[in-house]
Amino acid sequence: MGSSCGPTGPEPGAAAERVIYLDNAATSWPKPPEVLAAVQHYLLEVGANPGRAGHFRAAEAGRLVFRARRAVADLLGLHNPMRVVFGANATWGLNQAIAGLLRDGDHAVTTTLEHNSVLRPLHRLQEEGRITLTVVRAAGDGYLDPDEVRRAVQPGRTALVAVTAASNVCGTIQPVAEIAARCRTLGVPLLVDAAQAAGAVDLDLARDGIDLLAFAGHKGLLGPTGTGGLVLADDFDAARLRPLTVGGTGSRSDSVRQPDFLPDVLESGTLNVAGLAGLAAGIDWLHGPGGGPEAVGRHELGLRRRFIDQATARVEGFQVAGNPAGPAVGVVSFTVEGLSPSDLGQGLAREFGVLGRQGLHCAPLAHETLGTFPVGTLRFGFGPFNTAGQVDLAVAALAEICRQERP
Ligand SMILES: Cc1ncc(COP(=O)(O)O)c(C=O)c1O
Repeated sequence: MGSSCGPTGPEPGAAAERVIYLDNAATSWPKPPEVLAAVQHYLLEVGANPGRAGHFRAAEAGRLVFRARRAVADLLGLHNPMRVVFGANATWGLNQAIAGLLRDGDHAVTTTLEHNSVLRPLHRLQEEGRITLTVVRAAGDGYLDPDEVRRAVQPGRTALVAVTAASNVCGTIQPVAEIAARCRTLGVPLLVDAAQAAGAVDLDLARDGIDLLAFAGHKGLLGPTGTGGLVLADDFDAARLRPLTVGGTGSRSDSVRQPDFLPDVLESGTLNVAGLAGLAAGIDWLHGPGGGPEAVGRHELGLRRRFIDQATARVEGFQVAGNPAGPAVGVVSFTVEGLSPSDLGQGLAREFGVLGRQGLHCAPLAHETLGTFPVGTLRFGFGPFNTAGQVDLAVAALAEICRQERP
């Protein structure tokens, strides 16, 4: 792999020339040209609603959605594509799993590394007095100890363990398979938040023993925004999940009762077919020009390392949040002593077109764990189309902004 991931990266347009986009952890950009073509194909040449009519255009729309299901299933080691349930984003998938599985009186376990998309649904249930919750503290370098997660489980009472596969704050990849092995031994379902990991980390539900996995289609899978969902392991009993939404599915229209089969039971209302057509093309790109998720992950990790090494050498007071050298996705959070992350982020965007994200990244407990609460950090998230040259420019820009901002 060269400086970018594949030989057929998108033609940079005028906008692409103006910015160095390092906010791929929020959503990836640019998307491969194949994604744009797939979205356009659906909107221009298909257009119909899958499963809502018998005509050939509706059948073609159904095929496009099924392609996306199969692409996600293949990527995540799932035999049955019908166990891929689409929603608007990873947040929907996490809420469906959490609110769908937990019952009054249950106990749940989660961790301080989680995004608010996990913490808030759990916290709300706790506040309503419906569940009790244990939040396992990660180490200050951003890694979880699987045995601490095991010790937090209350046999007979714990109904769910929810952990992230990779921190959206500091990028650290968590020992998901080790946690899953402990959950399996204890008979507790494991929900993995793969919003940051999918597309860059080798995740396999069957091999790793994961029961439920929420994913974002618009980040590492390179699909459009408005795509994501929940995946149920082949051996997970879908009847355990109460649907968040019920309504029209295009199936069993003779009944006012929600169908009981996947994916329809959890997937009511018209899908984002344009987005899902793009998602299938995004995953195809990962396997094709991208060289595979592991190659993409290596590329992004290489950019993370390059950035850390250069910024450490060139920027006085530069400090990485969490472990700078351990297993990670291409996400890095940092501070510069004496300077506000917010001023740095705004200055980099304004003066140099370097786009990151400053603040707490919807993960307050992660920042507490890493020692960066309440001010937060500046975060860069590298994507498949970022290059070593862009990293070098970003470091130079950071050094210059720091020089300007220092009193
Ligand atoms: C770890 C993690 N979980 C969940 C989410 C929510 O993803 P989405 O915006 O697709 O709902 C994010 C988004 O940044 C994330 O980083």
